Amino acid sequence: MNRIVYVNGDYLPEGEARVSVFDRGFLMADAVYEVTSVLGGKLIDFAGHCARLRRSLGELDMPSPASDDDLLSIHRELVARNGIVDGQIYLQVTRGNPGDRDFAFPDPAIVAPGMVLFTQVKPNLVENPDAKRGIAVISIPDMRWGRRDIKTTQLLYPSMGKMMAKKAGADDAWFVGEDGLVTEGTSNNAYIVKDGRIITRALSNDILHGITRAAVLRFAAEAQMVVEERSFTIAEAEAADEAFVTSASAFVMPVVKIDDSVVGTGKPGPVATRLREIYVEESRKAAI
Ligand code: PDD
Repeated sequence: MNRIVYVNGDYLPEGEARVSVFDRGFLMADAVYEVTSVLGGKLIDFAGHCARLRRSLGELDMPSPASDDDLLSIHRELVARNGIVDGQIYLQVTRGNPGDRDFAFPDPAIVAPGMVLFTQVKPNLVENPDAKRGIAVISIPDMRWGRRDIKTTQLLYPSMGKMMAKKAGADDAWFVGEDGLVTEGTSNNAYIVKDGRIITRALSNDILHGITRAAVLRFAAEAQMVVEERSFTIAEAEAADEAFVTSASAFVMPVVKIDDSVVGTGKPGPVATRLREIYVEESRKAAI
C-alpha cells in the first residue's frame, strides 16, 4: 500500500511517516483514538466522533491537538488524497513526546500532543458478507480496566479476545463482567432482541459509549421499536430471538451464535436486518 498519512501537521507517504520512540502513545498507551467510516467519499457520524474524542481527551487531561473544523479538514484531505470511496479513517491523539520515559504526565505547555491519521479502504462496508450470514461470538471474562468509556489505545485484551474467538472457530468475543452480565464486544456494543424489544446495556464507565449505538437507538425509537437499556446475561442472550452488535466499522452486525448456542433461527433476524438498512440509509443521507 502507498497511502498518504497525516503525522503531526504533515501529509506524508506512509513509508516516510515517523513517530518518536519516546512518544507516550507508544510507551504507555497514553493515547486516545477514533474510527470514522467513509461511505461514498463522505464521513459518517463525524460530529459524534469529534464529541467523543473531546470527552476522551478531557477525561485524561490531555490537550487537544486541533479544533473540530481542523479535524474535519484533515479527514477530508485524507479522503481526497487517498481516493477513499468506502473505508475508514483512523485518528489517534497521544500525549506526545517528552523526550524520555516517565510515569508523570509532561507539562502540556511544554509537550504538545501528537496526532496521527490514516485511511483504510473497505469496499465491503455495506455489502459485508458477514452481515448476510451473521457472526458467531464466544463469551470471555471482561479483564479490561475500569474506564472503558474512554476510547484509549489500550487494546491488548480486546486483541487477545479476538484471538480466543478465532481459536474457537468464532468471529468475535463478548465480554462478561464478574456479575455475569455482558458488557460489550471486543470492539462493538452488544444487543439482544426478545419479543420485539431491543435490549442493550445502559451507558456507564463499563462500556464505550458507541457513536453507532446512539444513532441506532435513535433510529429504532423513530421506527417505533421498543428499546430497553439494561444489562443481560449470556443465558438470556442465548435464549433471545436475535442478537447483534454495532460499531463504526460493522454498522449493525447480526450475531447468530453465542458459544455453543444458536440464536433464534441461526440466521440474521428481521430487527437487526432492518436496523442495518435504516442505519446505512440515514447515515448516507447525513454524511458530510
Ligand atoms: N471500536 N465498544 C468498544 C470496546 C469499541 O472498541 C467500539 C468501537 C465500540 C463501538 O463504538 P462506535 O460505534 O463508536 O464505533 C464499542 C472501533 C470501531 C475500533 O476499535 O476499531
